[in-house]
Amino acid sequence: MTLKACVIGWPIEHSRSPLIHGHWLGLHGIDGSYAKKAVSPDDLKKFISSMCENGFAGCNVTVPHKETVLKFAGQSDEAARIIGAANTLWFDKGVLHASNTDGYGFLANLDERAPGWDENRSCALVLGAGGASRAILHALGSRSFRDVILVNRTRSRAEALAAHFKGAFRVADWEKRNALVGECALLVNTTTLGMTGQPPLELDLSNAAEGCVVNDLVYAPLKTKLLEHANDAGLRGVDGLGMLLHQAVPGFEKWFGVRPEVSSELRELVIADIETA
Ligand code: ATR
Repeated sequence: MTLKACVIGWPIEHSRSPLIHGHWLGLHGIDGSYAKKAVSPDDLKKFISSMCENGFAGCNVTVPHKETVLKFAGQSDEAARIIGAANTLWFDKGVLHASNTDGYGFLANLDERAPGWDENRSCALVLGAGGASRAILHALGSRSFRDVILVNRTRSRAEALAAHFKGAFRVADWEKRNALVGECALLVNTTTLGMTGQPPLELDLSNAAEGCVVNDLVYAPLKTKLLEHANDAGLRGVDGLGMLLHQAVPGFEKWFGVRPEVSSELRELVIADIETA
């Protein structure tokens, strides 16, 4: 029987998940499929409740359904519960399970591309307070960063996140971000600044500490202005593509029974797709 999985969102055309999972299905010779499904908010409940009988082993979930799907899951793991959103669903003995693998993807990407990045856990600066930021804050907590500073253009959103995480980090003004750079061993851009069609993130790296790691979650374009500046300043820069690739690993394993690898071949495949978009 063909094993089926998919990614649901509204809209969904932009998703690169079918490329990633399709590559792994072919590589492992698995009789499986992974499709894009445009599911509107009005149709979400119906889609999820008929997913099992329609032969799906599970799915990935993207905007705008990541929070809502938690209501339909019988079991949610700790990451999904704490982040308050899920990106991966699967059935186990008929029960729908939910996980959030974004934080895992973030950590695995840094582990791979900046080995030793978390040896200095003194301080991290996180820019942005949207959905991506939640996952990163949770992930940094799991690696016991001593001091995490959150800055966001709209300060009230950062404060709402601080309340959600029960004050596990401090909030500072967006305008203070340049002054904070020198304190930090890790800088993470979770904002949409730097994405194709968006203005660049303005961040002065001239006072950055030696060994500071700069992670831009943006992957289109792959080389953002922020990463160019990090490179010019002699810092280790890490793009966001690896997070996209690694977050896909746990779902594939749940649905298709094989833990796939994030190889350079897969990375090149997705880069070629980004460059032709
Ligand atoms: P996601 O779920 O992908 O994190 P989001 O919830 O839309 O996306 O969040 C986008 C983030 O980019 C927010 O932190 C947003 O800041 P606001 O909360 O002030 O909107 C940030 N962002 C977007 N455009 C920005 C800009 N021009 N300057 C500064 N921050 C910006």
